[in-house]
Amino acid sequence: MTDQPNGQTIDVALGQRSYPVWIGRGLLDNHARWRSALRGRHALVISNRTVAPLYLERIARGLEGLHWSQFLIEDGEAHKSFHNVGLALEALAALGATRDACVIALGGGVVGDLAGFTAACWMRGIDFIQIPTTLLSMVDSSVGGKTGVNLPAGKNLVGAFHQPRAVVADIGTLDSLPDRQYRCGLAEIIKGAAIGDAELFAWLEQHAPALNAREETALTAAIAAKVRYKAGVVARDETEQGERALLNLGHTFGHALETAGHYTALLHGEGVAVGMLLAGRLSERLGMSGAADTQRMQRLLQAVGLPTAVPAGFDAEQLLALMRLDKKNIAGTLRLILWRGIGRAEIVAGVNEADVLAVLNEATRGLG
Ligand code: NAD
Ligand code: GLY
Repeated sequence: MTDQPNGQTIDVALGQRSYPVWIGRGLLDNHARWRSALRGRHALVISNRTVAPLYLERIARGLEGLHWSQFLIEDGEAHKSFHNVGLALEALAALGATRDACVIALGGGVVGDLAGFTAACWMRGIDFIQIPTTLLSMVDSSVGGKTGVNLPAGKNLVGAFHQPRAVVADIGTLDSLPDRQYRCGLAEIIKGAAIGDAELFAWLEQHAPALNAREETALTAAIAAKVRYKAGVVARDETEQGERALLNLGHTFGHALETAGHYTALLHGEGVAVGMLLAGRLSERLGMSGAADTQRMQRLLQAVGLPTAVPAGFDAEQLLALMRLDKKNIAGTLRLILWRGIGRAEIVAGVNEADVLAVLNEATRGLG
């Protein structure tokens, strides 16, 4: 991959439901472009109380002449809830939204998942546009049509596949994104490379300082590369019958770490970072990959300021118990995404719990 100039369009090829992902600075103000994705006269903008004060005004200017309203949720994962979907649907009803109405998601993955699910439910499915404002949502959650909400029983337990009409990734919105959230997005870019793009992984190793400095050319190129990779996977396996499951590298370990840390010790991207490293160590233990690959992963995560160690006080047995609850498991056995080295992830069923526990024991004792 080579550095590329600002401003890119990547198509998610799904036949008649194909859509563009526009990536560049200033796209929020390119009203003509994103309004072309709206088919009707009604729009509901869904956002949250952190993002709306920053960017909603610019969207509102683009909606002049339409019949539109806004629905804002409180900030945080806890608000990706059925309750808020109900309120958003009421907002669509109050708007008098018809089948050609459009939901516009303005925010990170929490807003995007909830807004997409709302659009999937209203009149059995209306259009929606993703306007992701976190790096994580630009490179992962806004692309691919997974929408949904959490239940008290667990994260993302309810949802639908519902593809957006367009994704508007204005990298100017990242200027206000806190560093810790920015690094979570870098974890998702590294994940894509680790799964299936060794060339991108090497490029990321070279460009880590530029990405840390949020250098625009490198950042745009990295976002585009990850979106291109994910778009390819989604086009081949939209509903996760096979290959798409690979996108969960590090997630089984990561979700267990997130849950054990009550979603505060580690953010999602941080859990994925440590999780990918543990998946690498397990792959090494199972003879699937060598130490050099694990070390490269550790060095790259460290180079962009992501955690590579399990926080103190975590218990290996508790983490294993949480991993047993993962949605990917079948017939009561662990099914994990592991790798045969950088860029070569694989789904491995029937993983021996003793091997997982050995990796967790080392990591929780700080030996990893
Ligand atoms: P998030 O939506 O909670 O955003 C992170 C924080 O950044 C929030 O406090 C938010 O208000 C703030 N924020 C957003 N944009 C900002 C900006 N431009 N400037 C300043 N602050 C800003 O979290 P996220 O990391 O974007 O997304 C995580 C969610 O995405 C989780 O619910 C996860 O389950 C979901 N997800 C979904 C998919 C999918 O395929 N649908 C994939 C990955 C993750
Ligand atoms: N984030 C995993 C997926 O979109 O499939």
